[in-house]
Order: sequence, then structure tokens, then C-alpha cells
Amino acid sequence: MNIPFVDLKSQYQSLKPEIDAAIQMVLNDTTFVGGKYVEAFEKAFASQYGVKHCISCANGTDAIYISLKAAGIGPGDEVITAANTFIATSEAITQTGARPVFVDNDEYFHLDPARLEEKITAKTKAVIPVHLYGQPAAMDDIKAICDSHHLLMIEDCAQSHFAALDGRQTGTFGLAGTFSFYPGKNLGAYGDGGAIITNDSDFARRARLFANHGSEKKYIHEIEGINSRLDGLQAAILSVKLKYIEGWNEARYQHALKYTDLLQDIPEVKCPKLRPHCSHIFHIYCLRVPQRDHLIDYLKSEGIATNIHYPIALPYLPAYSYLKHQPEDFPVASEYQNEILSLPMYPELTDEQIIFISDSILKFYSRQV
Ligand SMILES: Cc1ncc(COP(=O)(O)O)c(C=O)c1O
Repeated sequence: MNIPFVDLKSQYQSLKPEIDAAIQMVLNDTTFVGGKYVEAFEKAFASQYGVKHCISCANGTDAIYISLKAAGIGPGDEVITAANTFIATSEAITQTGARPVFVDNDEYFHLDPARLEEKITAKTKAVIPVHLYGQPAAMDDIKAICDSHHLLMIEDCAQSHFAALDGRQTGTFGLAGTFSFYPGKNLGAYGDGGAIITNDSDFARRARLFANHGSEKKYIHEIEGINSRLDGLQAAILSVKLKYIEGWNEARYQHALKYTDLLQDIPEVKCPKLRPHCSHIFHIYCLRVPQRDHLIDYLKSEGIATNIHYPIALPYLPAYSYLKHQPEDFPVASEYQNEILSLPMYPELTDEQIIFISDSILKFYSRQV
């Protein structure tokens, strides 16, 4: 059986008439950059989040960078984030001239609030929790620490569209939430795209200004900014897909329950833990396993694609060798990086595929291969 890691084709096929019509409308109107389709998407996304503002931009990395700039972060500042995330989070910090400071994982693969306070210095200005894999980070504890130290909180929601903690959606706990609409994300465009949500109108104005060459009015530039825009085609596609996100997230959640049900009795396999009171949207279904690289090869020989998010925790990447971190600085991230394995996950995955994948893992560990 051939099982891809994500299957964007099935989803397009299921929505083809609607998506094709949306694309055709943008082509007919030639509203390629900005314009009514972008405005309509921003309005719909903000409304679905119950927030005042959505500022769209070119991608999820820019969404973090623009947010940090609009929050006034710059050279001399420190911004704290998780050791286990995609490099985009820390790249955006460095782009502002600030220094990234990493915190080790908790058992849910997120920034561990118990290790956060020790990283706070006089230079710390903000914290970026990442709702990695689609599950909310420990927001109550992280927010309490941020509040007591007067730190800004910007949530990286690139993997957590509409995930919630106690019914409150990720992206609404701090100053802003940032999103990626990279095609493989739970809400994915057909190219790059990103957005920021916030209830702070001054911050929203500064973010919009910075993302558009520092200009609200054509050729009047209040500051120097950047060019980071969502295009009309992506906005129209995202507006169609936004109507389906809840069902897709629910399908992913059901697939995750099925995986866990089938895998939890294999002694070698550690299934992802559900944080209490959270709705996990399973952007990624991540196991922890021994002999991980052999298992990957075996699954590949069975036609099953897998992935690792992420094979090297950020502090140990060559890009951060200047921080001179040692394995003992982040014991959990150091251990997990050799064990984590992401299984195929997308709404259109079938029970038959999940059973085949789970049986293959069982065969591998019971040495029937
Ligand atoms: C946690 C996280 N943050 C930020 C990003 C950056 O998003 P983009 O690729 O749209 O720039 C990603 C994308 O992979 C991500 O997974």
C-alpha cells in the first residue's frame, strides 16, 4: 500500500468545483494583490476567531517577524521560545536584531513553563509559545509567568488553526497569534500565506503598516517596512477552505484516536499525550520510538512515508552553534530528537490505511519482519 505523508490531491479533488470557481473569479477580476478577496478572507478569519483584527501577510515566518517588529522588539532584546519548533520561530526573532533564548520541552513537546522563569533576564521582552503539532501549549502557566514579569506573549499558531484550551482558541491568549497557510498546514493555501490575529488596534495598525512598506496611503511611507502580502488567489482559496476546517480538524482528531487505540499496547511505542482540557487538531501525529531510523526504513519498504519534526532541536543546529549549548542544557529536547517520528496524517486518511500503518509498526517491533 502506498501511503503519502500528506495528501493534498484528495482534498483538492473533493473541493474542485468550488476552488476552481474561486480561482476563476480572481482571474476575471484581476485582483491579484490586495483587494476584495484578501479583505474578505481577513474578515472571515477574524470573525471565526472572534477577534477584532486579522492582518494577512506572505507567510507564517513573516507573521512572527511583523508581530515582533510591531511590538517594538529589536537589538538588545531577548525573546524566549521553545527548543523544539521549526526554525522559522527563532529566525524571526533574530531578524529583528533580538536574541533567541530557548526553553526545554515538556512531555507534550511544548515550551515547559517550569523551566521558563529561569530564562528570564532584564533583557527579556517577549515569549513565543509554539502550539506544536496542533496541541495548545501550557497557556495558563505561561501566561501567568508572562504577566507577572510584564512580558509580551505572541503565540506561534502555524500548526494550531482553531485548537483550543478550555474552549479558548490558541492565538487569543496574548498580544497576537501568528499563522502559516503553507499548503500542508491544517488550513493550507496553494502557495505561501500567513496572518496575524489580535484584539489590540494600535498593534494591528503598526503590523499592517510594517507589512506594507510602512505605508497606509499609497506613496506616503511613515516608516520603512517590508513587502509581505497575501495574494488574491490564495485569499480566495483560503476563504473556500475556511468553511471546512472544523470538519477536517475533527477528522484528524478521530484518526489520532484510532492510531493511539491500535498502537498503545506496543510496549516500545509512546503515543502522543493529550493535554487536559485541550482540543488537539493533530497537524502532526508524533510518536516516540526506539530504533527510530530502522523503523523509518521498514515503513518506507512497506510504502509508508514518515517524517521527523524536527530531527535536530533548534539549540543544536549549526545556525545556533554561537550559543554553545550542550545536550544537558535541554535534556528533554536532546532525548526526544532521537525518538520522535511523525506518521501520515491528513483528513482524507482512511481506517484501512491507519490499520495498515499500525500493523506494520507492530510487525517491526514483534520482529515479524
Ligand atoms: C511552528 C512553525 N512556525 C512557523 C512556521 C513558518 O511558516 P511559513 O512556512 O508559512 O513561513 C512554520 C511552518 O512550517 C511552523 O511549523
